[in-house]
Amino acid sequence: MNRKKMVAGNWKMNMTNDESVNFINQLKSTLVKNVDVKIAPSFTNLYNAILLLDSSEIEVIAQNIHYEDKGAFTGEISAEMLKNIGVKTVIIGHSERRKYFNETDSILSKKVKKAVDNSLKVIFCIGEELSERENGNHFELIKNQLKTGLFNLSEQEIQNTVIAYEPVWAIGTGKTANNHQIQEMHEFIRQLVKDKYGIGFSEKIRILYGGSVKPINAKDIFSLDDVDGGLIGGASLNISDFNSIVQAANG
Ligand code: 13P
Repeated sequence: MNRKKMVAGNWKMNMTNDESVNFINQLKSTLVKNVDVKIAPSFTNLYNAILLLDSSEIEVIAQNIHYEDKGAFTGEISAEMLKNIGVKTVIIGHSERRKYFNETDSILSKKVKKAVDNSLKVIFCIGEELSERENGNHFELIKNQLKTGLFNLSEQEIQNTVIAYEPVWAIGTGKTANNHQIQEMHEFIRQLVKDKYGIGFSEKIRILYGGSVKPINAKDIFSLDDVDGGLIGGASLNISDFNSIVQAANG
């Protein structure tokens, strides 16, 4: 099955608004013909980024969302707020949210549901810690993250979701999972999607890899059968690295 590749830059807590504008002005000339390119700036930069990329193929997406509609949740951002400025996609379940902000699978499940109820597309992140891999628990862990966090969605609700497999030990460490580990896990994830939602959707859903993707390894990773692109952290902050990674996905 021919799935269009996706490359999404997760800027995390980096870039001021000025830096973001500067980056986007350079990014605008990126050739994105056969790749879905997305950037996820921080909340303060979102609206400006959307205005700047208004007539571009590059999509501006959010890094997080709250699961309540509105109310006394100091510091949080709602689905409606995101939609109102033109955001259409949100990252949910990043390991940094799980780890530093105690977002459990059941909280994430509520976030996913809120996003989908508001017609926002979701990039749902999963991934194991090194100790879980070393103990041989990584498959079980990934299965549980999907089951509890994502698989509560109905077949209709899940249609616009993308899964990002990001082994925690490969994030920001320069240590990429090897091609065998990546393909094996992506195949496993696709099989779980198939078991739950059937072969049609399992062939359609895009599964991204994240964790120290760089210009030097992007092409190899993106050529794996069940890898449909990447979620890029550090390298997405450098325009020439990010461009190279997008071109690697362009085939
Ligand atoms: P790095 O590319 O910096 O390893 O980060 C990956 C990531 O967490 C993307 O969401």
